[in-house]
Amino acid sequence: MKRKRRETGLGVDRTVYDADIYDGLNDFTHDLPFYLELARKARGPVLELCCGSGRITLPLLRAGVKVTGVDFTGSMLAAARKKAALEGLGGAFVRGDMRKARLGKKFKLVFIPFNSLQNTYALGDVEKVFATVRAHLAPGGLFQFDIFNPSIEYMVKMSKLHKGRYRFTTPEGKKVVIDEVCRYDSAAQVNRATWIHHIDGGRPVAQRLDMRCFYPLEMDALLKYNGFRVLARYGGYDKRPFDSSSMKQIYVCRAVRP
Ligand SMILES: C[S@@+](CC[C@H](N)C(=O)[O-])C[C@H]1O[C@@H](n2cnc3c(N)ncnc32)[C@H](O)[C@@H]1O
Repeated sequence: MKRKRRETGLGVDRTVYDADIYDGLNDFTHDLPFYLELARKARGPVLELCCGSGRITLPLLRAGVKVTGVDFTGSMLAAARKKAALEGLGGAFVRGDMRKARLGKKFKLVFIPFNSLQNTYALGDVEKVFATVRAHLAPGGLFQFDIFNPSIEYMVKMSKLHKGRYRFTTPEGKKVVIDEVCRYDSAAQVNRATWIHHIDGGRPVAQRLDMRCFYPLEMDALLKYNGFRVLARYGGYDKRPFDSSSMKQIYVCRAVRP
């Protein structure tokens, strides 16, 4: 009898959020002008949930924005703190889970950038994240986040192994090659990526990168019943309108209840 492969739980494995590997791969800046404009217009303190190693937090601090960053991965947060300290930037970096964090402060803008909400899988956890956002929004404050626009074509394409999908050198000088293959779990609505890391030519290390998919109309409904009004939904950081060809869903919302 054929044995069913045992499913592991949903999540993201450690090497994906190792700060050095993360920074080597994610050195893009095309979303920064969008965040700078949003944060400047907020005219007040800003909360970044899932700040990671500070890719967005640091440019905001440099621009004089008062940012608090929250993240639950120690190595990412340590890297953000170190970079901010080296430049004498200040900023508050808090280790915490966005499903439960309560900082006892209000912010003019709360944002969850770079698909980070897609690391939240269960409905109850999504509701907890939205409750955290509402608990930290000052009256009239904005809530912004971005997620992928799920694409069937993309998931089919990625169901085959893509060797050498990413190749880069990390800030610490490690040479990294990542192969990728995905399997879409249509019951959980999770794109289950496996990233096989080859670091400095060493033994391959397979890591999970599970991404919850949120369909556009589903997200509209989730926001509505969790007390948010959608002010804008863009299809890119240049604020192009969202449509079925958009890779991203970029939401700007306001809370309609505390
Ligand atoms: C894709 S990275 C984004 C980092 C950074 N904001 C950027 O744009 O480069 C996602 C981050 O979310 C964090 N994260 C995921 N789920 C979280 C949760 N429930 N609470 C706090 N941090 C979380 C991870 O530790 C990781 O640093």
